[in-house]
Amino acid sequence: MSDAALLQVDGLNAGYGRSQALFGVSIKAPARGAIAVLGRNGAGKSTLLKTVFGELPTMSGTIRFDGTAVEGEPAERRVRRGVGYVPQEHAIFAKLTVRENLALGCVRQPDRSGMDYVLDFFPKLAQRLAQTAGTLSGGERKMLAIGRAVLGRPKLLMLDEPTEGVWVGVIEEIADRLKQLSREMAVILVEQHIELALEVAQHAYVMDRGHIALEGPAASVRSDPRLMHHLAP
Ligand SMILES: Nc1ncnc2c1ncn2[C@@H]1O[C@H](COP(=O)(O)OP(=O)(O)OP(=O)(O)O)[C@@H](O)[C@H]1O
Ligand SMILES: [Mg+2]
Repeated sequence: MSDAALLQVDGLNAGYGRSQALFGVSIKAPARGAIAVLGRNGAGKSTLLKTVFGELPTMSGTIRFDGTAVEGEPAERRVRRGVGYVPQEHAIFAKLTVRENLALGCVRQPDRSGMDYVLDFFPKLAQRLAQTAGTLSGGERKMLAIGRAVLGRPKLLMLDEPTEGVWVGVIEEIADRLKQLSREMAVILVEQHIELALEVAQHAYVMDRGHIALEGPAASVRSDPRLMHHLAP
Protein backbone atom coordinates (compact mmCIF):
# COMPACT_ATOMS: atom_id res chain seq x y z
CA MET A 1 0.00 0.00 0.00
CA SER A 2 1.38 3.44 -0.88
CA ASP A 3 2.32 5.97 1.78
CA ALA A 4 -0.17 8.48 0.41
CA ALA A 5 -3.16 6.90 2.13
CA LEU A 6 -6.53 8.65 1.81
CA LEU A 7 -7.35 7.66 5.38
CA GLN A 8 -4.71 7.17 8.03
CA VAL A 9 -5.75 6.34 11.57
CA ASP A 10 -2.97 6.22 14.17
CA GLY A 11 -3.11 5.09 17.78
CA LEU A 12 -6.83 5.65 18.06
CA ASN A 13 -8.41 5.38 21.51
CA ALA A 14 -12.17 5.82 21.66
CA GLY A 15 -15.35 4.46 23.18
CA TYR A 16 -18.55 5.33 24.95
CA GLY A 17 -18.22 7.89 27.73
CA ARG A 18 -15.58 6.51 30.06
CA SER A 19 -15.93 3.01 28.68
CA GLN A 20 -13.06 2.57 26.22
CA ALA A 21 -13.68 0.22 23.29
CA LEU A 22 -10.75 0.98 20.93
CA PHE A 23 -7.15 0.71 22.10
CA GLY A 24 -4.39 2.16 19.95
CA VAL A 25 -6.03 1.25 16.65
CA SER A 26 -4.06 2.09 13.49
CA ILE A 27 -5.38 1.46 10.00
CA LYS A 28 -4.97 3.02 6.60
CA ALA A 29 -6.92 2.99 3.37
CA PRO A 30 -5.61 3.94 -0.10
CA ALA A 31 -7.67 6.17 -2.40
CA ARG A 32 -8.82 3.14 -4.43
CA GLY A 33 -9.51 -0.40 -3.33
CA ALA A 34 -11.14 -2.02 -0.33
CA ILE A 35 -9.90 -2.90 3.12
CA ALA A 36 -11.78 -5.36 5.31
CA VAL A 37 -12.25 -5.07 9.05
CA LEU A 38 -13.07 -8.43 10.64
CA GLY A 39 -13.61 -9.57 14.20
CA ARG A 40 -16.08 -11.40 16.40
CA ASN A 41 -19.12 -9.71 17.98
CA GLY A 42 -18.09 -6.87 20.25
CA ALA A 43 -14.53 -6.64 18.85
CA GLY A 44 -14.94 -2.92 18.14
CA LYS A 45 -15.59 -2.85 14.38
CA SER A 46 -18.65 -0.59 14.51
CA THR A 47 -17.00 1.60 17.13
CA LEU A 48 -14.07 2.11 14.76
CA LEU A 49 -16.33 3.21 11.89
CA LYS A 50 -18.39 5.48 14.17
CA THR A 51 -15.23 7.15 15.43
CA VAL A 52 -13.78 7.66 11.95
CA PHE A 53 -17.14 9.10 10.87
CA GLY A 54 -17.28 11.43 13.88
CA GLU A 55 -20.38 10.02 15.54
CA LEU A 56 -18.17 9.13 18.52
CA PRO A 57 -15.42 11.41 19.84
CA THR A 58 -11.74 10.52 19.67
CA MET A 59 -10.18 10.15 23.14
CA SER A 60 -6.68 10.30 21.69
CA GLY A 61 -4.88 9.41 18.50
CA THR A 62 -5.20 10.88 15.02
CA ILE A 63 -7.51 10.46 12.05
CA ARG A 64 -6.05 11.94 8.88
CA PHE A 65 -8.36 12.14 5.90
CA ASP A 66 -7.23 13.46 2.55
CA GLY A 67 -4.26 15.21 4.12
CA THR A 68 -6.11 16.85 7.04
CA ALA A 69 -6.41 15.88 10.70
CA VAL A 70 -10.18 15.50 11.15
CA GLU A 71 -10.45 13.86 14.58
CA GLY A 72 -11.72 17.10 16.13
CA GLU A 73 -14.28 17.81 13.41
CA PRO A 74 -18.02 17.08 13.58
CA ALA A 75 -19.37 14.30 11.36
CA GLU A 76 -21.09 16.76 9.07
CA ARG A 77 -17.80 18.38 8.09
CA ARG A 78 -16.25 14.96 7.47
CA VAL A 79 -19.19 14.13 5.17
CA ARG A 80 -18.47 17.31 3.21
CA ARG A 81 -14.84 16.27 2.91
CA GLY A 82 -16.00 13.02 1.32
CA VAL A 83 -16.54 10.50 4.08
CA GLY A 84 -19.54 8.25 3.34
CA TYR A 85 -20.90 5.87 5.94
CA VAL A 86 -23.54 3.14 5.91
CA PRO A 87 -24.21 2.28 9.56
CA GLN A 88 -25.03 -1.23 10.75
CA GLU A 89 -28.48 -0.14 11.92
CA HIS A 90 -31.00 2.61 11.15
CA ALA A 91 -29.37 3.44 7.83
CA ILE A 92 -32.67 4.34 6.14
CA PHE A 93 -35.89 6.13 7.06
CA ALA A 94 -38.49 3.36 7.09
CA LYS A 95 -41.51 5.66 6.80
CA LEU A 96 -40.17 7.61 3.83
CA THR A 97 -40.21 6.41 0.24
CA VAL A 98 -37.16 5.21 -1.64
CA ARG A 99 -37.12 8.50 -3.57
CA GLU A 100 -37.28 10.57 -0.36
CA ASN A 101 -34.53 8.51 1.22
CA LEU A 102 -32.30 9.10 -1.79
CA ALA A 103 -33.11 12.82 -1.85
CA LEU A 104 -31.81 12.99 1.73
CA GLY A 105 -28.54 11.47 0.59
CA CYS A 106 -27.82 14.43 -1.68
CA VAL A 107 -26.04 16.44 1.02
CA ARG A 108 -22.68 16.67 -0.60
CA GLN A 109 -23.45 17.00 -4.27
CA PRO A 110 -27.13 17.65 -4.92
CA ASP A 111 -27.37 16.90 -8.62
CA ARG A 112 -29.37 14.69 -10.94
CA SER A 113 -26.33 12.85 -12.20
CA GLY A 114 -25.78 11.37 -8.75
CA MET A 115 -29.33 10.03 -8.70
CA ASP A 116 -28.97 8.55 -12.21
CA TYR A 117 -25.70 6.98 -11.17
CA VAL A 118 -27.29 5.26 -8.17
CA LEU A 119 -30.37 4.05 -10.06
CA ASP A 120 -28.10 2.71 -12.77
CA PHE A 121 -26.07 1.00 -10.14
CA PHE A 122 -29.04 -0.55 -8.33
CA PRO A 123 -31.79 -0.89 -10.99
CA LYS A 124 -34.03 -2.59 -8.41
CA LEU A 125 -34.32 0.75 -6.62
CA ALA A 126 -35.47 2.48 -9.81
CA GLN A 127 -38.53 0.23 -9.86
CA ARG A 128 -39.38 1.07 -6.26
CA LEU A 129 -38.95 4.84 -6.01
CA ALA A 130 -42.47 5.42 -4.70
CA GLN A 131 -42.41 2.49 -2.25
CA THR A 132 -42.06 3.07 1.49
CA ALA A 133 -38.56 2.01 2.54
CA GLY A 134 -39.88 0.01 5.48
CA THR A 135 -41.62 -2.37 3.06
CA LEU A 136 -38.43 -3.22 1.12
CA SER A 137 -36.73 -6.61 1.43
CA GLY A 138 -33.53 -6.90 3.49
CA GLY A 139 -31.38 -6.80 0.37
CA GLU A 140 -33.24 -3.83 -1.11
CA ARG A 141 -32.85 -1.91 2.15
CA LYS A 142 -29.11 -2.46 2.08
CA MET A 143 -28.99 -1.32 -1.56
CA LEU A 144 -30.93 1.81 -0.62
CA ALA A 145 -28.59 2.51 2.29
CA ILE A 146 -25.53 2.07 0.06
CA GLY A 147 -27.21 4.11 -2.69
CA ARG A 148 -27.83 7.00 -0.30
CA ALA A 149 -24.20 7.04 0.78
CA VAL A 150 -22.92 6.77 -2.80
CA LEU A 151 -25.15 9.62 -3.98
CA GLY A 152 -22.95 12.05 -2.10
CA ARG A 153 -20.01 10.83 -4.26
CA PRO A 154 -17.77 10.10 -1.26
CA LYS A 155 -14.03 9.59 -1.56
CA LEU A 156 -14.26 7.02 1.23
CA LEU A 157 -17.20 4.68 1.71
CA MET A 158 -17.43 2.85 5.04
CA LEU A 159 -19.90 -0.03 5.17
CA ASP A 160 -20.89 -1.72 8.42
CA GLU A 161 -22.11 -5.25 7.58
CA PRO A 162 -23.77 -4.54 4.22
CA THR A 163 -24.91 -8.16 3.82
CA GLU A 164 -26.39 -8.63 7.30
CA GLY A 165 -29.96 -9.95 6.98
CA VAL A 166 -29.64 -10.27 3.21
CA TRP A 167 -30.82 -13.41 1.41
CA VAL A 168 -27.87 -15.45 0.17
CA GLY A 169 -28.90 -15.03 -3.49
CA VAL A 170 -28.51 -11.26 -3.25
CA ILE A 171 -25.23 -11.28 -1.32
CA GLU A 172 -23.16 -11.92 -4.46
CA GLU A 173 -24.86 -9.00 -6.21
CA ILE A 174 -23.96 -6.69 -3.34
CA ALA A 175 -20.39 -8.05 -3.34
CA ASP A 176 -20.10 -7.30 -7.07
CA ARG A 177 -21.35 -3.75 -6.55
CA LEU A 178 -18.84 -3.23 -3.74
CA LYS A 179 -16.01 -4.44 -5.97
CA GLN A 180 -17.16 -1.98 -8.62
CA LEU A 181 -17.31 0.89 -6.10
CA SER A 182 -13.86 0.07 -4.78
CA ARG A 183 -12.42 0.70 -8.23
CA GLU A 184 -13.69 4.29 -7.97
CA MET A 185 -13.23 5.11 -4.27
CA ALA A 186 -11.76 3.88 -1.01
CA VAL A 187 -13.96 1.27 0.67
CA ILE A 188 -13.81 0.05 4.27
CA LEU A 189 -15.85 -3.09 4.66
CA VAL A 190 -16.91 -4.51 8.02
CA GLU A 191 -18.25 -8.01 7.43
CA GLN A 192 -19.25 -11.22 9.20
CA HIS A 193 -18.97 -13.08 5.89
CA ILE A 194 -15.23 -13.57 6.02
CA GLU A 195 -14.89 -15.16 2.59
CA LEU A 196 -16.87 -12.37 0.94
CA ALA A 197 -14.86 -9.68 2.73
CA LEU A 198 -11.55 -11.25 1.74
CA GLU A 199 -12.76 -11.61 -1.84
CA VAL A 200 -13.72 -7.92 -2.11
CA ALA A 201 -10.79 -6.46 -0.13
CA GLN A 202 -7.10 -6.41 -0.94
CA HIS A 203 -6.00 -5.78 2.66
CA ALA A 204 -7.54 -6.93 5.93
CA TYR A 205 -7.46 -6.00 9.60
CA VAL A 206 -8.67 -8.38 12.29
CA MET A 207 -9.84 -6.80 15.52
CA ASP A 208 -9.89 -8.53 18.90
CA ARG A 209 -11.09 -6.81 22.08
CA GLY A 210 -10.62 -3.33 20.70
CA HIS A 211 -7.13 -3.95 19.30
CA ILE A 212 -5.86 -4.72 15.81
CA ALA A 213 -4.74 -8.31 16.36
CA LEU A 214 -3.74 -9.22 12.82
CA GLU A 215 -3.35 -7.42 9.51
CA GLY A 216 -1.98 -7.98 6.05
CA PRO A 217 -2.85 -8.62 2.42
CA ALA A 218 -6.24 -10.39 2.18
CA ALA A 219 -4.66 -13.58 0.83
CA SER A 220 -2.19 -13.85 3.73
CA VAL A 221 -4.85 -13.13 6.34
CA ARG A 222 -7.10 -15.79 4.80
CA SER A 223 -4.43 -18.47 5.20
CA ASP A 224 -3.13 -17.27 8.58
CA PRO A 225 -3.82 -19.85 11.30
CA ARG A 226 -4.30 -17.01 13.82
CA LEU A 227 -7.38 -15.78 11.92
CA MET A 228 -9.72 -18.43 13.34
CA HIS A 229 -8.30 -17.93 16.81
CA HIS A 230 -9.27 -14.24 16.71
CA LEU A 231 -12.69 -14.96 15.21
CA ALA A 232 -13.67 -17.92 17.42
CA PRO A 233 -16.41 -17.08 19.94
N1 LIG B 1 -23.67 2.49 22.90
C1 LIG B 1 -22.75 1.81 23.60
N2 LIG B 1 -22.51 2.11 24.91
C2 LIG B 1 -21.56 1.43 25.62
N3 LIG B 1 -20.81 0.44 25.11
C3 LIG B 1 -21.01 0.10 23.82
C4 LIG B 1 -21.99 0.76 23.00
N4 LIG B 1 -21.97 0.20 21.78
C5 LIG B 1 -21.03 -0.77 21.82
N5 LIG B 1 -20.45 -0.82 23.05
C6 LIG B 1 -19.38 -1.74 23.47
O1 LIG B 1 -18.22 -1.49 22.71
C7 LIG B 1 -17.56 -2.73 22.36
C8 LIG B 1 -17.40 -2.82 20.86
O2 LIG B 1 -18.70 -2.86 20.26
P1 LIG B 1 -18.91 -2.75 18.69
O3 LIG B 1 -20.36 -2.49 18.47
O4 LIG B 1 -17.94 -1.80 18.13
O5 LIG B 1 -18.53 -4.23 18.23
P2 LIG B 1 -18.64 -4.90 16.79
O6 LIG B 1 -17.29 -5.47 16.48
O7 LIG B 1 -19.22 -3.95 15.83
O8 LIG B 1 -19.64 -6.12 17.07
P3 LIG B 1 -20.80 -6.77 16.13
O9 LIG B 1 -20.09 -7.75 15.24
O10 LIG B 1 -21.68 -7.48 17.12
O11 LIG B 1 -21.50 -5.67 15.41
C9 LIG B 1 -18.42 -3.85 22.96
O12 LIG B 1 -17.85 -4.21 24.19
C10 LIG B 1 -19.76 -3.19 23.15
O13 LIG B 1 -20.45 -3.76 24.25
MG1 LIG C 1 -20.94 -3.94 14.73
